Amino acid sequence: MSFLGYKSNVEEGDLVIIFLGHDSMLPLTVRQGETTQTRFGALRHSQVIGKQYGSKIETLGGKGFVYVLHPTPELWTVNLPHRTQILYSTDIGVIISQLELKPGSVVVESGTGSGSLSHSLARAVAPSGHLYTFEFHEQRAATAEKEFKDHGLSNLITVQCKDAIQDGFGMTDVADAVFLDLPSPWSALRHAKAALKSAGGRICSFSPCIEQVQKTCLELTAQGFDEVTTLECLLRSYDVRTISLPIPKLGFEAEDLQEKSDKSVRNISDACDDIKESDNGDNSNVEEVAEQNVVKDIHKETGKKRRFNEDKFSKVQSGSNKSCVTMRCTTQGKEMPGHTGYLTFATLFRK
Ligand SMILES: C[S@@+](CC[C@H](N)C(=O)[O-])C[C@H]1O[C@@H](n2cnc3c(N)ncnc32)[C@H](O)[C@@H]1O
Repeated sequence: MSFLGYKSNVEEGDLVIIFLGHDSMLPLTVRQGETTQTRFGALRHSQVIGKQYGSKIETLGGKGFVYVLHPTPELWTVNLPHRTQILYSTDIGVIISQLELKPGSVVVESGTGSGSLSHSLARAVAPSGHLYTFEFHEQRAATAEKEFKDHGLSNLITVQCKDAIQDGFGMTDVADAVFLDLPSPWSALRHAKAALKSAGGRICSFSPCIEQVQKTCLELTAQGFDEVTTLECLLRSYDVRTISLPIPKLGFEAEDLQEKSDKSVRNISDACDDIKESDNGDNSNVEEVAEQNVVKDIHKETGKKRRFNEDKFSKVQSGSNKSCVTMRCTTQGKEMPGHTGYLTFATLFRK
């Protein structure tokens, strides 16, 4: 199995992504004779083996269905077992373009963490480039190394269990780019500088806090890096939905009502007559009182019209009235993922 090339059919031992819904997926290594429970019922691995990637497969007893997807770095990022905080595709996309990675590039990364970024870096530099990734936590380094091997990436990635700050990267003049996701990245900048090619290169440091960014920017400048830039990447997604809207018939009905209610509002001279007829002598402020009465009538009628329109609109929305059109439109997704961190980029120019 490889995350790089795509094959058409699932084979025994492949890692596949079982798609149950956009926010519900399951990474699965398929083995003859095994069964996996999903929330849509049981799935026999034998049902998956031999199928084309992308197939829709019914679960046992026809309780539901799943799709079987080919793994990609993006799908792995949202399905991997978390051993640390990880980087997500929004940041990863910007990192790869800003570091100017391409097939053949050599990249140094620290720390490896859960290997989320490493998968995308490896794909970007394949088939002739290389990723050297450094992780000082023994268990994490060993697990990442095994995963890269299982995912067919071991010829592209070398994992070293090493403290990138104390011991450095042990390499000089080899890297086109360095990526740091460390608690104190400023302490690793001199090693990063040594690892970059003598022709120069790009660096990126990911930090959740602005205080870390400040220290990193100061040290980047002190180490002779240029073009120091910090970005925060926020993702805004949109949903496509079908909505119902009232059609103009509603407007004519509202106009009819307006006409009726206009007739029911008295004019000021009628209102004066009404007061004079009912009053018992003092007619000094008849016009003022008449005006107030007419205004009160108008408010009453306006309220009636508003309630009529609201009632009509809710009937249209609830489908109890045929006077509506349906249309496809986009609405902003409910959740906008918040801050994960800042990406600080810089360039090392060498004379
Ligand atoms: C936040 S995680 C990296 C996550 C990774 N970018 C990903 O996408 O999965 C940071 C990792 O750096 C490692 N680390 C911290 N300090 C280190 C150091 N001085 N040398 C090497 N690794 C270090 C930690 O053990 C941790 O696994």
